[in-house]
Amino acid sequence: MADGRARVAASILDADLSNLAHAVRRVQAAGADRIHLDVMDAHFVPNLTFGAKTIRHLRARTELPLDAHLMVDEPGRFLDEYLEAGCDSITFHVEIDEEIAPTLERIRAAGRAAGLAVKPGTPLSALEPYRELLDIVLVMTVEPGFGGQSFMRDVAAEKLFAARDLLNHKAFGAEVHVDGGINRETAEFVGGLGVDILVVGSALFVKGRDMGREVRLIRALADEGFQYTLNDGVPPIPRDRMVAFASLPKHLARALMDEIEAAGVPVVMLRGSGRMNPDGVRDYDLLVPASVEALVAERFIATRTALERDADAWRMAFTDAHGVIPPTGRS
Ligand code: DX5
Ligand code: ZN
Repeated sequence: MADGRARVAASILDADLSNLAHAVRRVQAAGADRIHLDVMDAHFVPNLTFGAKTIRHLRARTELPLDAHLMVDEPGRFLDEYLEAGCDSITFHVEIDEEIAPTLERIRAAGRAAGLAVKPGTPLSALEPYRELLDIVLVMTVEPGFGGQSFMRDVAAEKLFAARDLLNHKAFGAEVHVDGGINRETAEFVGGLGVDILVVGSALFVKGRDMGREVRLIRALADEGFQYTLNDGVPPIPRDRMVAFASLPKHLARALMDEIEAAGVPVVMLRGSGRMNPDGVRDYDLLVPASVEALVAERFIATRTALERDADAWRMAFTDAHGVIPPTGRS
C-alpha cells in the first residue's frame, strides 16, 4: 500500500476498450490504488462505454477496489447488476430525474460505499438532502462524457474543500473524489484542497511516459499540496497507518472495540506483547487509524479508563479465585 494520504483511482476510459483486461493489468502493475470505471449510457452523457457485465468480468481480473462512476439516467433501475458485478463503491449523478435516496440506501445496505457526483455547473447544495447517506462526494472538474479535457480550476476551488463538510457525519472513511483533468500539473492544487481520491484517466495513458512514475508523482504532488496548503507544513498522516489506543484483557478489549466500531471507526484487535494477566494470557492491543486517533481519544478515553479499572478488579478477583496460572509457553 502507498504511504501518504492521497490515492489514485485509475480511469480506464482512455485505454483501448477492446482490451480492458490489459488496461487493468497495466494500471495495477503501475501501482494505482483503485480502478475508476466510467459507465455511460449515451443518454445522461453523449457517449457510451461499458456496463455491469464488463465490470463483472474485470472483477475477476483484479484485486484492486472498483469504483463505479455511473453517468446514466437510471442508476436505480440497474443497481442490482452493479452490486452483483462486485463494485466496491457506486457513485451516480445528482442531476438525474430518478429518486436518489432509495438508491443510496440500497448501495449502503449491500455493504458498499455510496456516492453522489456533481457536474461542474451543479452546486454542492444539491447534495444537502442526501448528506447522511453519503460516503463519497465526487466533484467533476470537466463536463462528464469524455477523457482528456482540461481541468476547471475555479470549479475545484469552489467545491473541493467545501465538499468535505457534507461528509462530516462520518467519523472515518468519507472520501472526496476529484474527476477530470487531473495530472502532474493539477494534482498539487487539488491536494491542497484536501481531496482524498484523484481520478486520473488520460494522464496515465500518455505514450512514452512511465505509468508507474506518473501514479507516484501525482500522489506525491497531491500530498505536497496538502502538507503546505492545509497542514502547516506537517506531512499528512499516512492513510493506512494504525496506532495503539488501548491494551486490555481480551474480554474488556472486545467490549471497547465494539463501542469504537459502533461510532464508525474500524479497530484491529491483536494479541499484545505487553502485560501478562493471571490467567496466562497477555493483554490485547486495540489499534485505530492514526488519522482519527485524536477523535477516538476525545470520545473514548473515559471509557478506556473505566475499563482499565475493571481490568484491575478482574485481575484481583481472578487471582483470589484461582491464584496465578503460569504462562504455558504457547505463543
Ligand atoms: C469523464 C470521466 C472521467 C474521465 C477522466 O466523464 O468521468 O473519469 O475519464 O479522464 P481525464 O483524467 O482524462 O480527465
Ligand atoms: Zn469518472
